[in-house]
Amino acid sequence: MNTILNKTIAEVVSDDISTASVFKKYNLDFCCGGGISLASACKKHDINPSDLINDLESNHQKSDVPNLNFKDWDITFLVDYIVNVHHKYVAENLDIIDEFAQKVAKVHGDHSPEVIKIAELYQKIAAELVPHMQKEERILFPAIKALVANKNSEFPFGSVEGPIHMMEHEHEVVGVYAKEIIALSNHFEAPEWACNTYKALYFKLDEFINDLFQHIHLENNILFNKVKALS
Ligand SMILES: [Fe+2]
Ligand SMILES: [Fe+2]
Repeated sequence: MNTILNKTIAEVVSDDISTASVFKKYNLDFCCGGGISLASACKKHDINPSDLINDLESNHQKSDVPNLNFKDWDITFLVDYIVNVHHKYVAENLDIIDEFAQKVAKVHGDHSPEVIKIAELYQKIAAELVPHMQKEERILFPAIKALVANKNSEFPFGSVEGPIHMMEHEHEVVGVYAKEIIALSNHFEAPEWACNTYKALYFKLDEFINDLFQHIHLENNILFNKVKALS
């Protein structure tokens, strides 16, 4: 059996982040649900394993820019990257997308009730994500950096596992909401008659949720694993 099929989705994405787009094409979750093997995922979602392998291989061949090898980064640099890239993206886009979602829900909600539900789910994500990122930036990440700087220092909350577990749980909550938005929006496929705000909403939601899944992947599968290995 092809050995790549025995790897988990999370492992394949951790080895080569560009494969995230291949898994997205097959609607395979690579962050919260990335713990299953490719073989099991193919079976569960009725995917031909050779199609998936072919796509993964051709993806590898066509990437002409070096991939960022997050797994080899040191913990402090990875934390700074997550904050400067992903937390910043959320902070800069959260309100704009909310405005689009509210407007589309108000104008088109009567004949497309799913846009009302999408606006509600988006607000639930925002309500979770803002305090979540604050906890990471103000408490967990500085504590992780202190732990790296002085490996003998005590983690301020007893064990590092507790706060990490809490963050993982919160990731799962927003992940569920995000997947509901993907389904309700028919994978961000705006109807033919959609106005520009509608199209812009789906375009931005697609971008936002991609960023969110990548953000969660970096924390769950790379950062937190590295930190757990320290203690
Ligand atoms: Fe984060
Ligand atoms: Fe997080």
